[in-house]
Amino acid sequence: MVFISIVSACLILFSIGGAAAKVPAIIVFGDSSVDAGNNNQISTVLKSNFRPYGRDFFGGQPTGRFSNGRVPPDLISEAFGLRAFVPAYLDPAYNVSDFAKGVCFASAGTGFDNATSNVLNVIPLWKEVEYYKEYQTKLKVYLGETKAKYVISEALYIISLGTNDFLENYYTLPNTRSQHTIDQFQDILLGLAEKFVKDIYGLGARKMSFTGLPPMGCLPLERTTNFMNGNGDGCMDNYNAVAMHFNGKLSGMVKKLNEEMPGIRVVFSNPYDVFMQIIQKPSSFGFEVASVACCATGMFEMGYMCDVLNPFTCSDANKYVFWDSFHPTEKTSRIIVDYFMKHTLNQFL
Ligand SMILES: *[C@@H]1O[C@H](CO)[C@@H](O)[C@H](O)[C@H]1NC(C)=O
Ligand SMILES: *[C@@H]1O[C@H](CO)[C@@H](O)[C@H](O)[C@H]1NC(C)=O
Repeated sequence: MVFISIVSACLILFSIGGAAAKVPAIIVFGDSSVDAGNNNQISTVLKSNFRPYGRDFFGGQPTGRFSNGRVPPDLISEAFGLRAFVPAYLDPAYNVSDFAKGVCFASAGTGFDNATSNVLNVIPLWKEVEYYKEYQTKLKVYLGETKAKYVISEALYIISLGTNDFLENYYTLPNTRSQHTIDQFQDILLGLAEKFVKDIYGLGARKMSFTGLPPMGCLPLERTTNFMNGNGDGCMDNYNAVAMHFNGKLSGMVKKLNEEMPGIRVVFSNPYDVFMQIIQKPSSFGFEVASVACCATGMFEMGYMCDVLNPFTCSDANKYVFWDSFHPTEKTSRIIVDYFMKHTLNQFL
């Protein structure tokens, strides 16, 4: 009797688990924080499909990910029992049979604002959505209408961008700064973020993880700028304050969207606090260095300046919080993903 009820309890648990575990695909929009190599196929200087990028990826392969290894969507895909990486939509090595389980439309250097993607001639967010529409058409041919609709509505959408709108655009282009105060600019971005969510919702997306901004004032490149300006080599506190403020607004937007849009489930995955803890106490997470990056001098290099022949590049990226002057190592990404899996993405497991 006891045995039978244990068995039936297990069966019930199993079937609940089975019914809920229905994220059939991971679909990614955003910037270099999540780009899996779309920029390899376009004409921009912002690329990373060469060594030492990817030296800890499968086969030591440089894929166009801005990391020594994998980026967060790859780790999330694996955590959901899907493929151990999410391929880039524009990568000719993959086709719709791969993309049916995961696809990345992200482009390094992009932002919510069209002016951001114009800076380095990368894929604007609206064009990522155009590619997504094209993907839906291909998916329907490949899987049939019913199955394709299932994938589209049950997939987990990862949305990760915004840092470039501030660092590449607002704080770099005098034109943007002369037109808007930082508060006005944040509200413009928020409007664009909301419009984006509504656009993909209109196309069938329902489960989303909207990612917040990291402590962008602590990126090694920003520390270097701080240092050049004679302010010591600490984090740029004002950039961090903007990131926190913007994250507050995004969190409010996510709450509102969940209330307003029938059937939507958006979580706000905020990396700020856990990332800041890593930067402030790297040794408690097994790191040795948080202020400079592994690649080259670690102070300003990324992309083509992160050169395989640079004698300063570190030998063990696991000791470093940052891989290049703008991007975390795989190990840092893993800690952040583990945090999301526990606090926000667990909703979709
Ligand atoms: C996708 O590519 C694989 C080989 O890489 C091939 O076997 C398959 O037929 C292709 N599928 C489609 C739908 O084009
Ligand atoms: C961004 O550019 C696209 C294509 O030109 C355009 O359709 C869209 O309205 C622009 N977005 C904004 C906010 O101006």
